[in-house]
Amino acid sequence: MCGIVGYIGNKDVKEIILSGLEKLEYRGYDSAGLAMINKDGMHIFKDKGRIFNLRKIVNNDVESTLGIGHTRWATHGVPNKINSHPHQSSSKRFTLVHNGVIENDDVLKYEYLSKVKFESDTDTEVIVQLIQKFVEDGEPVDLAIRHTMSEIHGSYALAILDKEDNNTIYAAKNKSPLLVGIGEGFNMIGSDAMAMINHTDNFYELHDKEFVKITKDNVEIYTIYGNKIQREPYKAEIDATDIEKGTYPHYMLKEIEEQPFVIRRIMANYKDENGNLHIDEEVLQAVKQCDKVYIIACGTSYHAGLVGKHFLENIAGKHTEVIISSEFVYNTPLLSGKPLFLFISQSGETADSRAVLVKVKEMGYTTLTLTNVKGSTLSREADYTLLLHAGPEIAVASTKAYTAQMAVLAILATLVSNNINIDLMKEFAILANVMETLCDNKDIYDKLAYQYLKDSRSCFYIGRHIDYYVCLEAALKLKEISYIQTEGFAAGELKHGTIALIEKGTPVIAIITQECINLNTRSNIKEVKARGAASIVISTKKLSAETDEIIMNDVHGLLTPIASVIPTQLLAYYAALHKGCDIDKPRNLAKSVTVE
Ligand code: G6P
Repeated sequence: MCGIVGYIGNKDVKEIILSGLEKLEYRGYDSAGLAMINKDGMHIFKDKGRIFNLRKIVNNDVESTLGIGHTRWATHGVPNKINSHPHQSSSKRFTLVHNGVIENDDVLKYEYLSKVKFESDTDTEVIVQLIQKFVEDGEPVDLAIRHTMSEIHGSYALAILDKEDNNTIYAAKNKSPLLVGIGEGFNMIGSDAMAMINHTDNFYELHDKEFVKITKDNVEIYTIYGNKIQREPYKAEIDATDIEKGTYPHYMLKEIEEQPFVIRRIMANYKDENGNLHIDEEVLQAVKQCDKVYIIACGTSYHAGLVGKHFLENIAGKHTEVIISSEFVYNTPLLSGKPLFLFISQSGETADSRAVLVKVKEMGYTTLTLTNVKGSTLSREADYTLLLHAGPEIAVASTKAYTAQMAVLAILATLVSNNINIDLMKEFAILANVMETLCDNKDIYDKLAYQYLKDSRSCFYIGRHIDYYVCLEAALKLKEISYIQTEGFAAGELKHGTIALIEKGTPVIAIITQECINLNTRSNIKEVKARGAASIVISTKKLSAETDEIIMNDVHGLLTPIASVIPTQLLAYYAALHKGCDIDKPRNLAKSVTVE
């Protein structure tokens, strides 16, 4: 979703901001812009489209050491040049970029800004006009910004320039993520550490309703009331090379191939000095002592949550419910007496999940976040965190974070259980090897995707038991990046209505990894084939039939989802490749969805 990067220092700002914005491209966006101040005044370049378009319109003759940039994911108003950020106040004195959504923009327009002529359809323009109004009313700039913060309702990360002060970037935050990057002789602001990691790994995190003044040598953080805050910086543990694509054509392919390595890294991070699986005792006690686990998540993380429920119930004997974040807030189920809320979020920033976290914290419940991003909002605000150790995931479609989520959930369930008899270390080692073999044989997915998926308008994944959960994720992956309408179905349910959609040639992909459902799912395949479907079967060696298209080596029965998803990720990848889709940045999608 929207991204911000700003710089103040001694170097020319253009390349720093443009390459910073490129590092944020993975979040998903539709427009980009840049504002710089120099002795000649303010220079703004912006338009809809990708950063490489922005590069073309930025005037390289403008030299500046102070600027802010933005990638926009449209919420208010279509993606076009006028709605792109930065936005300016009518007097052109103030220029700002904004991530988030202002909920009372109409009220503020009516109450304070009825005489102002608005240029764009955005909620953002209200913020910059309000700052100008309060300054015109006689308030100093920092008070005017804090005053504006108290009037606007909703989420915001702001970076603001004042044309009359070419020594300062002002910033403010509520709900949307924002970090200050600290350097020698320069400072930066960004919505994500990745935008700044090539320049610094030293950051101040900002909390909600905080206001910041950044000069090249100094950073001052204030509350909304103007009280100065002392804060210790932290070091981000991101390796800048982790976010490069290397020789891979796409991040998605790189991240799919990294999965066996991620499993090995998880094993290394979740073991004690004796080589035994280990999770912090406080976290284990919190899960052991609750009477029910409520898993809260969205998208791919929700699908990992479904497998997590299976682990927690079958391995640890813990009642577990999995709820889509955006549903929980307004349609809260009847809760058990002593619940524990487990948030699963790759980014740790998803606004829908955070809304639930805020709500259940107010209710006084214990919270645990499972995330890939140390220091992310959901991690900071929950009582406990478990990290995924998947490394930065850049492709919008999540792959390695999903398998990492399931792996850490399996460890959690095993350690919460008192009597389970699984040597998870050994099983993970086998699993990583099986995943590697699945990644090695790419030709098969390439051919199947070309033959069955490239020209299809719709597709079905069918499975039973935990295979069904993988089908949901497999279907999401295929539709996200290839735009083929795909549904994941409980194989037995298809005949109760949806089988009506099967036509000659409709691809139906079945996943079979559990002995107890092998024959039933195979019967369902026969039913759809009898109606013309083109079937593909993904099975395990033990359960395979000679005609199955993809046969994976056997892994422990509980861990099959962590391996069986790989063929589906690669089928989606090659389908999108053959269709010529923008694999890493699918249309309309954002990696980190920071609005509800
Ligand atoms: C977005 C992404 C999905 C992701 C979902 C939840 O919609 O496009 O890939 O699964 O957000 O994200 P989270 O970071 O909370 O796991």
